Amino acid sequence: MLRAMKGVILAGGTGSRLHPLTRITNKHLLPIYDRPMVNCCIEAVVGAGITEIMVVTGGTHAGEFLRLLGNGHEYGIDRLSYGYQERPGGIAEALGLAERFVGDDPVLVMLADNIVERSIRRMVDAFRSDPHGARILLTPVEEDAHLRHLGVPVFDDGGRITAIVEKPDDPPSHFGVTGIYCYDAGVFGVIPTLEPSGRGELEITDVNNHYIAEGLMSYDVLDGFWGDAGESIDAYYVVNDFVRVHGVNHADVDHADGDDAVDDRGGVDRVG
Ligand code: G1P
Repeated sequence: MLRAMKGVILAGGTGSRLHPLTRITNKHLLPIYDRPMVNCCIEAVVGAGITEIMVVTGGTHAGEFLRLLGNGHEYGIDRLSYGYQERPGGIAEALGLAERFVGDDPVLVMLADNIVERSIRRMVDAFRSDPHGARILLTPVEEDAHLRHLGVPVFDDGGRITAIVEKPDDPPSHFGVTGIYCYDAGVFGVIPTLEPSGRGELEITDVNNHYIAEGLMSYDVLDGFWGDAGESIDAYYVVNDFVRVHGVNHADVDHADGDDAVDDRGGVDRVG
């Protein structure tokens, strides 16, 4: 039987890469085609079968999320909680605010500016059936210039991830780490051990490197489009153009072979 799982949607930050648009609103409330960005993320999480969700936001526009989402029922959420990050301290710090909400359950964490063409359910179900350690979702990325904005995995000859390098000058592979992560509740013991990075933030990549060092990291490779709509104004429009033509979060059944969005590499890289 699949274990109950919580969802944490991270929708804070200053959105400085999208200034001046984000001076007057939160990045995750900007439109992606016909709806606010955060709604795409909620749809992905609910589509993965998770209906107890905390949205963590911050800054001066946090109240707008309540106005948009209310109690969440309209969007398929059973229980919606809100967290407030008092200053931008990084993705890992924002996740730490969800500790009491998550309790002892495994958790799916999704950055609200990450947009996926197809369902992430299979990755989530794989983790739910064995909810220990961490499981991340990779996406193939051709261009080095793009990889320099992302977390990039290093692989050994057996296809195991040996490290993730955040925003590498010299990308060690052609995969990006998406902002979609599954963790066991032990993640809340990892976060307090982190040191702020060069950009003054607690990095989710450091959380992932902790799990890798413990031999508790597995991964899947996402099939279909992935975009980080907050990466730059150009990335924002690439995502918008894609979604306007192709839509988002297509359920498993849309796939020609009846399979869903992730190419399961689970187990391949589970060590220890
Ligand atoms: C964050 C993560 C990075 C990941 C990216 C995906 O980057 O730190 O590892 O590849 O999200 O969207 P940020 O958006 O904070 O620059």
